[in-house]
Amino acid sequence: MQEHLIIFDTTLRDGEQSPGASMTKEEKVRIAWQLERMGVDVIEAGFPAASNGDFEAVKSVADSVKDSIVCGLARAIEADIQRAGEALKGAQSARIHTFIATSPIHMKKKLRMSPDQVITQAVKAVKWARQYTDNVEFSPEDAGRSEIDFLCQILEAVIDAGAKTLNIPDTVGYTMPDQFGKLIHNLRERIPNSDKAIFSVHCHNDLGLAVANSLTAVMNGARQVECTINGLGERAGNAALEEIVMAVRTRQDYFPCDTKIDTTHIVSASKLVSGITGFPVQPNKAIVGANAFAHESGIHQDGVLKHRETYEIMRAEDVGWGANKLLLGKHSGRNAFRNRLMELGIELESEEMLNNTFMRFKELADKKHEIFDEDLQALVSDEVLVLQERYRLISLTVHCETGEVPYARIVISDDGKEMHAESQGSGPVDATFRAIETLLASEAKLQLFSVNNITSGTDAQGEVTVRLQKSDRIVNGHGSDTDIVVASAKAYLSALNKLHSKLERAHPQV
Ligand code: KIV
Ligand code: ZN
Repeated sequence: MQEHLIIFDTTLRDGEQSPGASMTKEEKVRIAWQLERMGVDVIEAGFPAASNGDFEAVKSVADSVKDSIVCGLARAIEADIQRAGEALKGAQSARIHTFIATSPIHMKKKLRMSPDQVITQAVKAVKWARQYTDNVEFSPEDAGRSEIDFLCQILEAVIDAGAKTLNIPDTVGYTMPDQFGKLIHNLRERIPNSDKAIFSVHCHNDLGLAVANSLTAVMNGARQVECTINGLGERAGNAALEEIVMAVRTRQDYFPCDTKIDTTHIVSASKLVSGITGFPVQPNKAIVGANAFAHESGIHQDGVLKHRETYEIMRAEDVGWGANKLLLGKHSGRNAFRNRLMELGIELESEEMLNNTFMRFKELADKKHEIFDEDLQALVSDEVLVLQERYRLISLTVHCETGEVPYARIVISDDGKEMHAESQGSGPVDATFRAIETLLASEAKLQLFSVNNITSGTDAQGEVTVRLQKSDRIVNGHGSDTDIVVASAKAYLSALNKLHSKLERAHPQV
């Protein structure tokens, strides 16, 4: 009988710490629903004390997720823990994850605390957290560079204080697999009360070893892995959820445990996260890259045609490739549409939203004869964004001809007031963005412009991400349409809307 390997997803917390990957509350909730649908055991939804926005996002995830444990991160500080406890109040099942650094360099240079003070603070933190929930996780930050004797001491003390999960982070991605595996083995052997807690690992990918380190830890007794969709995370990222889950599932002859992840949702989760953050997935990325199951060489193709397992160790459909089956067409009714949204775990807040999204679905079905799950997800994102918009695209005319300077004329609504402008540019997208800037003079800097096709085919919707920066604020805007210039205009306006609401939110605090 295989043991259970707990999957703790931190896309919404560590993943969001990736520069430029910040997400709105609504985006976090959509990703959380997808994680819940996949069967993720624990969703780390954010760091409630970091900002009011993060607090609200964790609260919304806690209030809407039912099947997964929702976790909030907190430093080993009473105020942080209190904030996490409040944000998680509505959760069906809540966890507080508290941490303090334990490596000599962090204790001395960052915390300026003695090792004894660090132990005292860690024990207090676990006790504060237990006032809100019995499900408390403790992390000795930078464990990969900490002294094992000290780790044994602090971990024994926090287990006595009531921590149920001990998470061992390789915060800077420094350790080697063999070394990290031994660390987990030795901690479990040496800590007298180690059987009272579950050992977890949280590996960063600075040397490209996050997945290898995590899996070696699993072979040495870790029974929770912290990971993110597409390996998103601080710097080079965290261990990729899809790689951990598929390694363990594919090599059941090797691993003594398995996860309860429904792997057929992996590809949609990857696309969702990539679409929301604007971080594209490299084509040769394991499991979720576009080429992960593509065979180019004639010998390989021949082999696969004769017997799939000659060159394939997993089936593409098992991770959700090709699972975005044709669902609805232009003759589908409102009920079929609503049912499919419900199957995808999408609940629109009001009948008005459902009606608007359905109308947009019909418009899309006129332009594109096959509508896939990803198209529906994009339609819903657009609808959610529209409701929060101050600026909205009304119409766009673009003229492009070989040898002519591209030109765009745009009409937008600013809180209901129509305005129009025109501009030339080096291309149709440039002309469109310049026309918008003629009207709104945002002074924001364009940091990223990316286009992804949501599904395949030349009639596919293009999903555009625009990243804008104004002073120290960075936002991602998204837009989708079968016309990528229209999608670009929507994405640019959506980024300006976010910038505008962020600026408004920030103002009272100043
Ligand atoms: O990398 C790290 O150490 C962390 C901790 C907060 C667990 O993200
Ligand atoms: Zn981390």
